[in-house]
Amino acid sequence: MRRVLTRTTPVYVAGHTGLAGSACLRLLRRRGFSRLITATSAELDLRDRAATKEFLGRHRPEVVVAAAARVGGIAANAAAPAEFLSDNLRIQLSLLDAARELRLPRLLFLGSSCVYPRDCPQPIRESALLSGPLEPTNEAYAIAKIAGLVHVRSVRREDGLPWISAMPTNLYGPGDRFDAERAHVLPALLRKFHEAVRTGADTVEVWGTGRPRREFLHADDLAAACLALLQHYDDDEPVNVGTGEDIAIAGLARLIAETTGFTGEVRFDPSRPDGTPRKLLDVGRVRALGWRPAIGLREGLASTYDWFVRHQEVVV
Ligand SMILES: NC(=O)c1ccc[n+]([C@@H]2O[C@H](COP(=O)([O-])OP(=O)(O)OC[C@H]3O[C@@H](n4cnc5c(N)ncnc54)[C@H](OP(=O)(O)O)[C@@H]3O)[C@@H](O)[C@H]2O)c1
Repeated sequence: MRRVLTRTTPVYVAGHTGLAGSACLRLLRRRGFSRLITATSAELDLRDRAATKEFLGRHRPEVVVAAAARVGGIAANAAAPAEFLSDNLRIQLSLLDAARELRLPRLLFLGSSCVYPRDCPQPIRESALLSGPLEPTNEAYAIAKIAGLVHVRSVRREDGLPWISAMPTNLYGPGDRFDAERAHVLPALLRKFHEAVRTGADTVEVWGTGRPRREFLHADDLAAACLALLQHYDDDEPVNVGTGEDIAIAGLARLIAETTGFTGEVRFDPSRPDGTPRKLLDVGRVRALGWRPAIGLREGLASTYDWFVRHQEVVV
């Protein structure tokens, strides 16, 4: 099967304005890919089946990076589970069905580490998928993403198309969402600490106990992994993409305090939900393909904070 990606291969990055998609687009541009296809959600609402099919038929990409999704942190997922389920199912169905009808040769679907069962053994192997109950706070989102993973695997089996799925851990980086409603933990904390420094506050309150452990991957590292997978991977099983290292939220808060220059007190609020107690991916499979993350957390936080400070007027 393995089609070699060349700089003239037409590649459609669905969700190119998002954290993961924009990193993929940056990398492809840097590597000299000349036939990159994109559309904002205003130009193409991927929930619209007919419009999606017309778009793909017109552009005929040879590679699709499926990085478009309705994504959010705990608060956003808890506030609108029906929308998270419905939008993601609809985006996936119209994109994957249209790509299948057109027999587009290569597709990379982005799943997520948060779709693994809540209490699965750590580090989480790919085989843990569907092995137990989900974390209730993002169950609706997870079910939709799992449907996407099974969809990709089913197309592989039924039609023999070499489509693949990746399971990124928590991502961060330039272009992330920092607003209180939609942000994930890392950008939400960066913003909170930044605000505390700006207003001279002497305490910052952090949701939960500070004890849950999480893994964080810079979006540029994810993009490099996506390209490596498109070049070298062809199997039914999704591939975890992470650093293989985790940090307690309390430790992350300390690093973010240093990054932003906050010197006051950090207070944890245990009345707020912690979510999954630990989430660390087993990254043996992606490492065996020769990929390694290149950006350490401290360095990645510094550059992300720098991006936030330069763009905050437009991201708040
Ligand atoms: N962020 C993470 O920590 C993380 C971790 C693991 C996996 N992932 C996965 O990575 C993928 C991308 O996540 P992300 O963090 O990059 O999300 P994001 O920053 O919120 O970006 C989502 C992208 O999807 C597009 N989109 C949303 N609804 C759309 C629609 N109806 N039609 C067309 N485009 C639409 C958005 O376009 P607009 O901006 O125009 O709305 C945006 O470009 C998702 O599948 C997610 O599950 C993310």
